[in-house]
Formats: sequence, structure tokens, C-alpha cells
Amino acid sequence: AAVSEDNLRSPICCIMGHVDTGKTKLLDNIRKTKVQDAEAGGITQQIGATFFPVEAIKQKTAALQKTMNLQYKLPGLLVIDTPGHESFTNLRSRGSSLCDIAILVVDIMHGLEPQTLESLRLLRAKRAPFVVALNKIDRCYSWKTCPDSPIRDALAQQNEHVIREFEDRAKKIMVEFAEQGLNAEVYWRNKDLGRTVSLIPTSAISGEGVPDMLMMLTKLTQERMSKSLAFVDILQCTVLEVKVIEGLGTTIDTILVNGSLSEGQTIVVCTLEGPVVSTIRSLLTPHPMKEIRVKGEYIHHQTIKAAMGVKICAQGLEKAVAGTQIHVVGPDDDIEELKDAVMSD
Ligand code: GTP
Ligand code: MG
Ligand code: NA
Repeated sequence: AAVSEDNLRSPICCIMGHVDTGKTKLLDNIRKTKVQDAEAGGITQQIGATFFPVEAIKQKTAALQKTMNLQYKLPGLLVIDTPGHESFTNLRSRGSSLCDIAILVVDIMHGLEPQTLESLRLLRAKRAPFVVALNKIDRCYSWKTCPDSPIRDALAQQNEHVIREFEDRAKKIMVEFAEQGLNAEVYWRNKDLGRTVSLIPTSAISGEGVPDMLMMLTKLTQERMSKSLAFVDILQCTVLEVKVIEGLGTTIDTILVNGSLSEGQTIVVCTLEGPVVSTIRSLLTPHPMKEIRVKGEYIHHQTIKAAMGVKICAQGLEKAVAGTQIHVVGPDDDIEELKDAVMSD
């Protein structure tokens, strides 16, 4: 079927990897926020979601525009942050199940670690394309900081021994990927995007390589997945968690993967006490470039289209079950049938 290029939904990008490789810090760098600083023990314990509008991505990749000649056809990018701590396998699995593409973050000083391998297994099972951020490049000995610079410009500023350290570490990591049966190559030398994973050196602290990472995500999604990103009006909306918010009461944070939601719609939600039928009282999102899991100001919407992290206010959702699907009751739907469907997901 023909795909309408002007009705693409935002892709969902999951950021995964071993604990403390810098996943949240990378997002903080793009958002110019300090989410990681406020985490208990510096450990992510929930799935997060942040929407990046295309304008922000254009601005952040501007320095690469003349060499890459990128076209921007997507409305934006919804990025899902996941925990890397070993005890959160279920959340990594939920995050990866929602994504179209992924960033696998590897600490360039450590190489592949246990949850890197676990994330790799999840992404391969899902057949999701991904890029690798070789993060903490600034920890190469005597790295000269070039804030927010494209990585090749930053490398051009380094002494020869820094370049050598980077090349040695990158090569070692390519060998580790080869041991997992994967070809990997530094992205600007990657001649076969379909078969070879691109490695993108980054620093979440000083921002080198972040433009390159955003550029590669844009390229991958637009060139290789425009069909799967066609907007279809079939609701797919997953519950992340239940939150009680002062002034709003009980709300549920969700990821709207496809389709749309509107205020006033009747929904059926899976709860610990069985299916609950309720009415959407309000639909909220954080501001663009803000993390949904951090308390902040919300934008009210009458209708909202995928993909987006959405906070739903409705009665009776106190015991909604994370990971389950929300269903909307249409004019021809049988509520009893939907109740069964909701509980069987
Ligand atoms: P989990 O979500 O708990 O798995 O960790 P994470 O992958 O989100 O890593 P996080 O952003 O919490 O960063 C872990 C630590 O590494 C923090 O102390 C960061 O300041 C530090 N860090 C992250 N990225 C970089 C980087 O690029 N360079 C340097 N030098 N430190 C970094
Ligand atoms: Mg984190
Ligand atoms: Na951490």
C-alpha cells in the first residue's frame, strides 16, 4: 500500500544499556535538563519518556547539515529512557517492546557488559535497528573539550595519542561485537547501514558526538522505516505507571504508540481488580524536551496523536497494571468483549 509521507508518526527510540553508561545523562545533554542529578543513587528506576520536536532536532544537528544534507520528514522523536540496573529486566523488556529504533549505550572505557548483552538480545529478538553510542569519550586521557561539537570536528582538535587511544578502544569494542555475531564500525566509515552497526562516540557531559547521534537516528528512521512509521488510526497505548498528583488525583502515565486519544472517550483499563471502564477526564503531556517521569507543568490536549508520552486523568485507575494496553470503546464496540480483551493482554 502507498504510504503517505506527510502522515508519519514520530518514531519511538528506546535508550538501553548497562547501568551507569550515561543513558539519562545523554538525554539530559540534549534536553539541557538535570534529571539524572535528582535520581536516587544516580540510578534510573522507571521508564521515562521525552518528546523531541523536529525543530529541536534540526537545530541540534545544524552543524552537520552541510555535510549530511538531511531531510526532515518526521514530526519528532519520542525517546524512552530505561534503567540499566540488572534488577530491571522487565522494564528494559517493556521499553524495547515499544520501540521502533534504539540507542545502545556502551561506556567506551568498559566495552560490552552484562546488561549490554541482555539489551542486545532484546533488540535482536525484536529486529529493531539500533545505533551504538560509545559514551564517555571525554575520559580518553587528556581529551580537549569541544562542547556540543560534531565528533569528527572534536577528534580533529585532539592530540595524536588521544586519537590512538580512541581508535584502540573502538577496535576492541568492534571485536566484542564480532564475538556476538555483529559487524560494527565507526559510523563515518560504515558503508553498509543495513548490515553493520554504527558506533557513534559521544560525551554526555560535554556533548561531543550528540549532533551525530541525533543525525544518525534521523537518517535510520527516515531512510529505512518510513513504511512502519505511517500513522494508522488503531490505538496502541501502554500503561507505564500509576501516579497520584496533587490537584489531579490518580493519573496514569502511558506511551501512546499509535493512533490517537481524545478527552471524553470511554476507555477500558486492566487493573488488579479486573477491567475498569472509565472516561478520559483530561489528557496531559509534559512540555516538549521534558521528561514525563519528572513532576512539572503539563500541557492539556483535547486530542493527541502518536507517538507521545501521555498522562491520562480518569477515575478508577488506582490499580491499573503497568505494561497492559488501554482500549477505547468505539460506537460499535461491545463493552463486555472489550473487558475480556483488556484482561487477556
Ligand atoms: P542507569 O539508568 O542507572 O542505568 O544509568 P545511566 O546509563 O542512565 O547513566 P547515568 O546517566 O546515570 O550516568 C552514570 C554516571 O556516569 C554519572 O555519574 C554521570 O555523570 C557519568 N557520565 C555519564 N555520561 C558521561 C560521559 O559522557 N562522560 C563522563 N565523564 N561521565 C559520564
Ligand atoms: Mg539512567
Ligand atoms: Na545511573
